[in-house]
Amino acid sequence: MNTDLKVWLDHFEYHSTHRYVLPAGKPGDLTAYERRLIGSSIAAFQLGEQSEGRSLRLAAERYEREHHASPLTRIVSLLIAEEQHHAALLGAFMDEHGIPRKRSDWTDHVFRRLRRLAGFELYLSVLVTAELIGKVYYRALEGATGSRQLQTLCRMLVADELAHVGLETDLLRGMHEKKSPAVRWLHTATLRTFFSGASLVVWFGHRRVLRSAGYSVATFLRACAAQYSFYLDPPQIQGVEYV
Ligand SMILES: [Fe+2]
Ligand SMILES: [Fe+2]
Repeated sequence: MNTDLKVWLDHFEYHSTHRYVLPAGKPGDLTAYERRLIGSSIAAFQLGEQSEGRSLRLAAERYEREHHASPLTRIVSLLIAEEQHHAALLGAFMDEHGIPRKRSDWTDHVFRRLRRLAGFELYLSVLVTAELIGKVYYRALEGATGSRQLQTLCRMLVADELAHVGLETDLLRGMHEKKSPAVRWLHTATLRTFFSGASLVVWFGHRRVLRSAGYSVATFLRACAAQYSFYLDPPQIQGVEYV
């Protein structure tokens, strides 16, 4: 078994038996103004976390078979279960505060469609994009609300997303290293462009919440780009071998 994958398997196995629970809220913790401000936005993220992940699991299965990457499928299944738990936590918070659930959302639709387009690597690229932008969003949501319950929930979600990003960037880097310099360059350029476009899409879908957390379109895009650079453009990827 690949040792890195073994570490990730242990991490996700452990977390699957030590789930976060929704922090207790106080009556009036979320004001009527805040409920209106975040309602539709949080419902879109709740929907995004809810994916059954069937096509992701299939893509992981195929990749595991072709690259002898056991236990990748098991890890991916555990990651999907953790995302579904995020959806359950957000859903419980929404129910408690009378925020209606969404059955569809255009930003969610875009991400789902793109993920189905190709193999595991593209899937991972779209997923890590959503996770990194999601991290910026949850931090912003934490700043936009005075509700201690929601602030704690946001911190829990970000803590889990950090591990998801760690796994996904580890896998992507491994795949990346096997490519020729020209193909690597092309992949990086495409992912960067896609990432910027996706950040802009999230800005338009959630700008009321993001604005009230103090972001402008420029500072939000910069915050997302900083996440990208930190996780996907570390020095070893930008190294001499690239030039
Ligand atoms: Fe999540
Ligand atoms: Fe995640």
